[in-house]
Amino acid sequence: MSLTAAELVRADQEHLIHPLHHPVDNASTVIYVRGRGAVVQDIDGHEYIDGLSGLWNVNVGHGRAELAEAAAAQMKELAYFSGFVGSSNIPSILLAERLLELTDHTMQAVFLTSGGAEANESAFKTARFYWKARGQPGKVKIIARDQAYHGLTLQTMSATGMGPGYWKMFEPRVPGFVHIQTCYPYRYQGAKPGESVGQAAARELEEAILREGPDTVAAFVGEPIHGAGGVFYPTEDYWPRVREVCTRHDVLLIDDEIITGFGRTGRWFGLSHWNVTPDILSFAKGVTSGYLPLGGIMVTRAIKEVMDSVEPDDRWMHAYTNSGHPTCCAVALKNIEILQRERLGENAAKMGARLQAGLQAALGDQPSTGDIRGGKGLLAAVEFVEDRATKKNFAKDLRFAARLKAEMMRRGVITRTRPALGAHPAQGDILFFAPPLVVSEAEIDRLVGAARDAVEVVLSAVGSSTVSR
Ligand SMILES: Cc1ncc(COP(=O)(O)O)c(C=O)c1O
Repeated sequence: MSLTAAELVRADQEHLIHPLHHPVDNASTVIYVRGRGAVVQDIDGHEYIDGLSGLWNVNVGHGRAELAEAAAAQMKELAYFSGFVGSSNIPSILLAERLLELTDHTMQAVFLTSGGAEANESAFKTARFYWKARGQPGKVKIIARDQAYHGLTLQTMSATGMGPGYWKMFEPRVPGFVHIQTCYPYRYQGAKPGESVGQAAARELEEAILREGPDTVAAFVGEPIHGAGGVFYPTEDYWPRVREVCTRHDVLLIDDEIITGFGRTGRWFGLSHWNVTPDILSFAKGVTSGYLPLGGIMVTRAIKEVMDSVEPDDRWMHAYTNSGHPTCCAVALKNIEILQRERLGENAAKMGARLQAGLQAALGDQPSTGDIRGGKGLLAAVEFVEDRATKKNFAKDLRFAARLKAEMMRRGVITRTRPALGAHPAQGDILFFAPPLVVSEAEIDRLVGAARDAVEVVLSAVGSSTVSR
């Protein structure tokens, strides 16, 4: 049965429930059919630069036949077998070895999942397990941050801090998740005189641990550089201080590398920019560049030893059918080989510097540019404000972010925007950039040019509607 584009859109509207579903978003759905490198094509033949790497995950770019061949070869041999008690398979064993090498063996063991939320679920459960096995069953709370995104299962949704929109139709949240401000240099509130934002935000973590009681807190979770919340780059002193605070109070540090892993920030893992080692590291997305679903956690030797030392009745009773899926693991191994062979982390660092310089040159003097964030690989954002001096945000009814996204599309760039959340210090309208790590100089320049032109058009449109309101 072959359907026309219009019939496909109608069938989509009637029968497919989308992530963050609401029909307003799918009134004119774009159906994508093909991708090569950093470029994708829709069903009508229009081409776009993929400015968000799918959903921050297609690190090696689109259309890699090598990954399809790795999947086909493994499927022909043994597509699936359970990794439950007493069974294993070759690709999952080899992938675990390879992943631990990428951490310079600061991590000791790997548990594999199908995606990011399952990885963070596993991380939270492992933190609780660890403290119970060590005779501290009351250490169950997880401290997370405002603007965090950790997934949308009930538990990871409760850790996610991107505003009440993610919670309100699914309340009550899982108890035991506590939120504090993140290290958001542009808008952080409450730094003391002489204190950097990183110092203040780490102090806030320590105060939260003391307020909750260290004997009730299992872990702190954070993305090295926030992704979906707004690409917030911390100050250089933040993560080392966070590590000190966690160690001082026996709180595990969960490092959510689901966006920042696998070359995105120019390194295998984002936290290594600050020489910080976590206790649990969550990964997904770039581990397979989205060619098949896969995620997981890595844990330190201390945690693995505790897992191995409990009585069988107290075992780590956690599992997924698809844990260690041989075909997904075979694709991950090939994907990591490509990232290394083509030095895509290095390209990300180089192209990221070009993107950052380009955005500065194109938008730095624009009176509505509040903050330009980037510089560590291909993870960047621009935050817009109505008034630079007061950081006043654009009014919601101007739909600044939505218009900007549409103007980018019109210029052949797919990206993501996030609307302002309210008055300062709530975040403003944000435009994101996270293209595939194979992106070329010419494509970076096109991204920047599209952003400059799109911003100009939107500003003149909202300028006139501000006057006419
Ligand atoms: C930092 C981070 N953590 C967790 C997740 C959840 O991953 P998934 O959508 O695979 O469940 C995401 C997804 O965007 C993410 O960006």
